[in-house]
Amino acid sequence: MWLLIIWVSVLIWAAGTFWFLFKKPSPFSASSVRPAEPLELDQKKRDKVLKQGFTKEKIPANLDAIIIGSGIGGMTAAATMAKSGKKVLVLEQHDVAGGCCHTFTEKGFEFDVGLHYFGQLHENGLLKVAMDQISEGQLEFVELPQHFDSIVIDDKGKRRDYPILSGRVEMEQNLKKLFPNDVKAVEEFFKVMKLTARKTPLMAILKIIPQWFALFLIKSGIANLISSIFRLSDFNATEMNYKLTSNKDLHLIFSYFFYGVAPKESSFMINALMLHHFKRGAYYPKGGASEIPFHVTKVIQKYGGSVLVRAPVSRILVDNKGTAYGVTVKKGEEHVEIRAPVIISNCGIFNTFQKLLPTEIQTKPEIQSRLDMMRPGKASFLLFSGFDATQEELGITATSTWLFKSNDMDGMMDDFFSMSKDEAPENVPMVLITFPSAKDSQTSQIRHPGKSCMTILTMVNYEWFEDWKDTRVRKRGDDYFSYKQRFADHIFNWACQHFPKLKDKLVYQEAATPLTNMHYLSCNRGAIYSADHNLERFYAEAMARNRCDTPVKNLYLSGQDIFSCGIAGALHGGLLCASTVLNYPVYIDLYLLKKNLKWRKAKETAKLAEKKQQ
Ligand SMILES: Cc1cc2nc3c(=O)[nH]c(=O)nc-3n(C[C@H](O)[C@H](O)[C@H](O)COP(=O)(O)OP(=O)(O)OC[C@H]3O[C@@H](n4cnc5c(N)ncnc54)[C@H](O)[C@@H]3O)c2cc1C
Ligand SMILES: *[C@@H]1O[C@H](CO)[C@@H](O)[C@H](O)[C@H]1NC(C)=O
Repeated sequence: MWLLIIWVSVLIWAAGTFWFLFKKPSPFSASSVRPAEPLELDQKKRDKVLKQGFTKEKIPANLDAIIIGSGIGGMTAAATMAKSGKKVLVLEQHDVAGGCCHTFTEKGFEFDVGLHYFGQLHENGLLKVAMDQISEGQLEFVELPQHFDSIVIDDKGKRRDYPILSGRVEMEQNLKKLFPNDVKAVEEFFKVMKLTARKTPLMAILKIIPQWFALFLIKSGIANLISSIFRLSDFNATEMNYKLTSNKDLHLIFSYFFYGVAPKESSFMINALMLHHFKRGAYYPKGGASEIPFHVTKVIQKYGGSVLVRAPVSRILVDNKGTAYGVTVKKGEEHVEIRAPVIISNCGIFNTFQKLLPTEIQTKPEIQSRLDMMRPGKASFLLFSGFDATQEELGITATSTWLFKSNDMDGMMDDFFSMSKDEAPENVPMVLITFPSAKDSQTSQIRHPGKSCMTILTMVNYEWFEDWKDTRVRKRGDDYFSYKQRFADHIFNWACQHFPKLKDKLVYQEAATPLTNMHYLSCNRGAIYSADHNLERFYAEAMARNRCDTPVKNLYLSGQDIFSCGIAGALHGGLLCASTVLNYPVYIDLYLLKKNLKWRKAKETAKLAEKKQQ
């Protein structure tokens, strides 16, 4: 056994030396970041960047890579490759770039589609450094109040309110104060959470080292000797929660970020990572979510690439040797062929393998075994509401509210998802209520004065809406409308119990069902987080097998199906993909850059202190 460890160490050392000697020029640099320019408020100028319609003339010559889908994952892969000197083309089926980061404006209300807030954006954190690199410093983030989430358990007449605070120390302290009888459980949870967060990079490394080597490390048991994370990822959340405490309110808090999988079937590691994600604060992009595609598109263009919308990819072209060499884009009745030596798909594993690959490739056992590792996730129901009133008049804030009908997540989810189509609408057991306009109130009042908006999110079964799958958007019929209105009324009234001033000021409302997601985001079965985040997906071996390279040569996957959903998760999917395609771990550059920036900052602070003393 020791011999093996020595052997592995030598290998790592040799790889390190090789990397040092033959290092490729870095796509990332401190000098490419410049101070953020003022917000672009002219919608026409914004549309010129975000809505460049596809035409044959706009396809750049000598492409190095085509990226299917303009979500944060695809944009990150594209920008990283563009900054490494590659000529890239991003193709987006919708009429605006951004995927889950796009926004839409209706009657003067601007709604985010898939970004409520995200974390780990503190100065010189890895994610912040990556965001700065792909936008060249143009993205700014508003830090939400320390009390960023409220959890409300609305148990018949016995309502409990739990504020969730961010803060390195405060997050844990707050929970200890709320649960004085469970101080030990909270401490233990935070200990494991910290370990999980620190060791997650090891999980990601499994995806970029050669697969045979990753599998060897896991199967030989060496991985377990290196870190306990590879075993930790096998625990389901309920099992771990019960190990810590019998307090069911606390169980719910340890797993409150619902994403369609009951805690008993989800990975404790993932649930802990979600809470950890907000330990250093919750953030929202200044100017709204569309700032992300707006600035990253400009970076891609600067390096000779292009982001084109209304460009639905209808086929990935594969030659008779099984190598991908291009795509076709549907334009009217025509299918325009575009060739490139690298094809990156950011539209999910199911869309990619089951819809875009030629049928004879889809049925290959290697493709089937990749598909068998994943299953489609749950769909979502979203309710967008607009109010003609300020946040003060409405009594709303930037804090998001998570409402639950009881503290039994496993039970609630089992019951709800096994309901019939007719029972479901009035029995939604959990919702997330957020107020985008209040999160960035400063620029929101400039952009949309006197208006406020709210988004309510919950998870639903695709099957409840499946009957209408062949109808056209906005023409799905009265029965569809009245069915979705039942969900809408129920969750809106529930929200109004907590925010009573909303009801009288409502002037706009639109509900988005799984079919809406399929139309605007091309989500497979309306699953916003794409593949299900079930426990088995996070077993070490599955992590090693589910990677960016695919059984089809020159075809790569990016985005949320690679590691996990979330803006951060999908962005890492993009970085892992760029690392695989460039055959070079861009993480090393990011890490060195981060260290360098921290060191500079420390030096500056020291200098400043010295000056003050003089
Ligand atoms: C309602 C909602 C709320 C969310 N809230 C948060 C949050 O608060 N914090 C957080 O971190 N994350 C949140 N998320 C999750 C996060 O937004 C996603 O996990 C992440 O943005 C996914 O990025 P992606 O690049 O993998 O995919 P996507 O953003 O889904 O991009 C895929 C793109 O591919 C395009 N496409 C598909 N098929 C084709 C084709 N054939 N041709 C061309 N283009 C195609 C789609 O139109 C889409 O633009 C939320 C998501 C939703 C939907
Ligand atoms: C969760 O883990 C426990 C303990 O290993 C196990 O008994 C239970 O069946 C698991 N739950 C699921 C849904 O797999």
